[in-house]
Amino acid sequence: MGPFGKILIVSFLIAYIAVKWTTPRFDPESLKGARVLVTGASTGIGEQMAYHYARFGAKIVITARREKVLQQVVERCLGLGAQKALYIAADMANESDPDKVVDFALEKLGSLDYLVLNHIGPTPFSMWDGDVEHTRWLMKVNFLSYIQMAWKALPSLEQSKGSLVVVSSVLGKMSSPFVAPYTSTKFALNGFFGSLYHELAMKKSNVSVSICTLGLIDTESAMEKVRGVTNIQAYPATEAALNIITTGATKQQELYYPWFTHIMCLSKDWFPSITSYVIQNSYNYSP
Ligand SMILES: NC(=O)c1ccc[n+]([C@@H]2O[C@H](COP(=O)([O-])OP(=O)(O)OC[C@H]3O[C@@H](n4cnc5c(N)ncnc54)[C@H](OP(=O)(O)O)[C@@H]3O)[C@@H](O)[C@H]2O)c1
Repeated sequence: MGPFGKILIVSFLIAYIAVKWTTPRFDPESLKGARVLVTGASTGIGEQMAYHYARFGAKIVITARREKVLQQVVERCLGLGAQKALYIAADMANESDPDKVVDFALEKLGSLDYLVLNHIGPTPFSMWDGDVEHTRWLMKVNFLSYIQMAWKALPSLEQSKGSLVVVSSVLGKMSSPFVAPYTSTKFALNGFFGSLYHELAMKKSNVSVSICTLGLIDTESAMEKVRGVTNIQAYPATEAALNIITTGATKQQELYYPWFTHIMCLSKDWFPSITSYVIQNSYNYSP
């Protein structure tokens, strides 16, 4: 191996050790009795997060639109060891529902240690067809309701030295075809909560903000969209969920899951043409 190769390997090793060294250790005990609100928890990653929090002995409130499904998730959470598990059905497109959900959680749990914002409204996986009304609606569900809930929960999180956890996507950092409305909502989240992170730090606030950037995860809704359209590998929802939880519990600013999504995000700035070529050719599409 030439000197360049050796330098590269040593640099990667040093970077790896530095990251491992500076990453705080996750203590599962810290979640025992923790008061948690998880949105979009009737299915997918949110449901898996509810089960993990339950296993850690947390007190949880979950929300989504479908009451019957929420009821089943709550029952399973109680079976898994949750100290408390409650649900409230809500539609995040309704202007009053985000506040209603936070009020419910505060009333039932007394306070909040974690607000985990995760829900997304259904959106087509197709080329932009000019449906502005759908994008407006999706912005309400995927973005505006997040900032409304965060604002409502901040005083309680401040008191408890709590964490605000925002589930975002690699599509909030780099654009991709077929998801224009969705990607816009995720870019908006990254911009808003990135700004809030700085403001809270400058105010010496007790509240941490964690933004989680996920790649393709094997939830039913995601798989339904990409089946036959791309061969990109999907990663397990349960593992994604656990990574989000540990990121919030250790108050880290960012999560990239799987890890190489970080490289993807960097590569779009370093090698824009190659990245665009790879993105456009990772889908089966002929005009
Ligand atoms: N799966 C992936 O490949 C992937 C990749 C990157 C990032 N992410 C992010 O991970 C998070 C979870 O994704 P997922 O794949 O687990 O999603 P999912 O399985 O589609 O679950 C979405 C959740 O949101 C709820 N929801 C939908 N519309 C709602 C509304 N109007 N009001 C309130 N709740 C609503 C759904 O329940 P109801 O239908 O009962 O309301 C469900 O619980 C999202 O933030 C997503 O952007 C996912």
